[in-house]
Amino acid sequence: MDKFNIAIDGPAGAGKSTIARLVANALGFVYVDTGAMYRAVTWRILRAGLTPEQQAEVIALTERMDIRLAPGENGQQVFVDGNDVTTDIRSAEVTNNVSPLARIAEVRRILTVKQQQMAAAKGVVMDGRDIGSHVLPDAELKVFLTASARVRAERRFQEIKDERTDVTLRQLEQEIVARDRMDEQRETAPLIQASDAILLDTTAMTILEVVDRILDLCRTKVGGG
Ligand code: DC
Repeated sequence: MDKFNIAIDGPAGAGKSTIARLVANALGFVYVDTGAMYRAVTWRILRAGLTPEQQAEVIALTERMDIRLAPGENGQQVFVDGNDVTTDIRSAEVTNNVSPLARIAEVRRILTVKQQQMAAAKGVVMDGRDIGSHVLPDAELKVFLTASARVRAERRFQEIKDERTDVTLRQLEQEIVARDRMDEQRETAPLIQASDAILLDTTAMTILEVVDRILDLCRTKVGGG
């Protein structure tokens, strides 16, 4: 199959990153987790003692930051100015500050340019919230993944229960619903299903079923293979 780009969007916990990574591996494409980039900026500004409300300082720091993504053994590794922040960007502190940060239009613009550069050579599976609608409007395949809030919270709970022993399933569901609302309601590039994206509700599907469905879509929509 020739190289092409795949955009995978959807709310928190829909399984985007696991699924996007498996699809990328199956096709020999590069996986780009754009949520990790917003998390990396959030980690950096918190470390500098800033909050997302200090927009001018946050934007200046975002412009100067070097963010790199590299494939690792257990998924994608994330580096900020040479520091490995792969684990740190998943902390509760970062998770709770990332949506306010992602509302800053200028931060989105800076990260969008980086993401478009990463996809310029094609052969990229990119996951996020605004990839099909905004970052890669010409992606050859667009998928919008969703699942019920309860199922998404259960999946996140399984993922993080070893690191965040303080959190209950109910709290996690509330956090997820609050984050979705903030991501859907922001003015710049909100979480939205692109008009030409294919909706996949994964509530009752296994990860491998979803991956197979997307690979089928690649064959029928993009052709070849
Ligand atoms: O997918 P995630 O939970 O790691 O994403 C972290 C946050 O980043 C999420 O609250 C929404 C934001 N985000 C965004 O606004 N645009 C993207 N393309 C990706 C993530």
